[in-house]
Amino acid sequence: MITSTPTARELLTIAVDVAREAAATAHRMRVEGVSVAATKSTVTDVVTAADRAVERQVVAALRQRRPGDAVLGEEYGAGESGPADPDGVRWILDPIDGTVNYLYGLPYCAVSLAAEVAGEVVAGVVRNVVTGEEWTATLGGGAWRDGQRLHGSTATDLGQALVATGFGYDAGRRAHQARVVTELIPHIRDIRRMGAAALDLCLAAEGRVDAYYEKGLADWDLAAGGLVAREAGLLVTGLSGRPPGPDLVLAAPPALHGPLHDRLVDLDASGGP
Ligand code: IPD
Ligand code: CA
Ligand code: CA
Repeated sequence: MITSTPTARELLTIAVDVAREAAATAHRMRVEGVSVAATKSTVTDVVTAADRAVERQVVAALRQRRPGDAVLGEEYGAGESGPADPDGVRWILDPIDGTVNYLYGLPYCAVSLAAEVAGEVVAGVVRNVVTGEEWTATLGGGAWRDGQRLHGSTATDLGQALVATGFGYDAGRRAHQARVVTELIPHIRDIRRMGAAALDLCLAAEGRVDAYYEKGLADWDLAAGGLVAREAGLLVTGLSGRPPGPDLVLAAPPALHGPLHDRLVDLDASGGP
């Protein structure tokens, strides 16, 4: 059977439809009331019934539209999709990024859905569950929020930069991350810890923060927001020539990337537990 590879645009159209339905479910379940269903890596790493329900809904919707594709989701892993065809399409899903905000009713949580082809992210959408703001990108096609093309911050002075970051759930890791922030904060305008990595990347893409860094991100935190940031012209890297990943993700416009990168290396931001 000959199957043609879908274009990034086609995959984005599917991603947006599915993410909108998913965000509507998350929003409805929030209005009905949420509570902790289970804990994961630590007692503060929680999962609600909505995280699971949204992931199941997205997987079912993708199965219906593109039955042969692989899916990686935060809550159920690769599920029944089995090993991904190395040349095929794989969807990467964070059903609710910012679960702690979701639990507390803070309006900073999102559905994040990306499509990879042959191991490269080519399309992604991040949709704020509460506000309905939506960021999209396709590889080579730019980054967008609600019809507006994004270009990142024009800031050039690290001393004036508003930098977003986040902390992991493990106490030892948080302690290391807090030490890094303590040493960084005298050299920047201020820090923001808003609580959803995918949205932080989108805000950096839009210049609503000047840059973002965090250690400990998983594929589902990074896939869609990372593409949005790159397509907005940001450099999205790890430290010391490494690609972005669990060790560190740094997303910054070119003028800020070098100075912030060097500071983070000096502070051993990718080190610790
Ligand atoms: C978390 C959020 C948080 C970040 C953590 C993530 P979750 O994702 O994105 O902002 O600091 O590293 O694990 O658990 O809410 O999906
Ligand atoms: Ca997440
Ligand atoms: Ca999540």
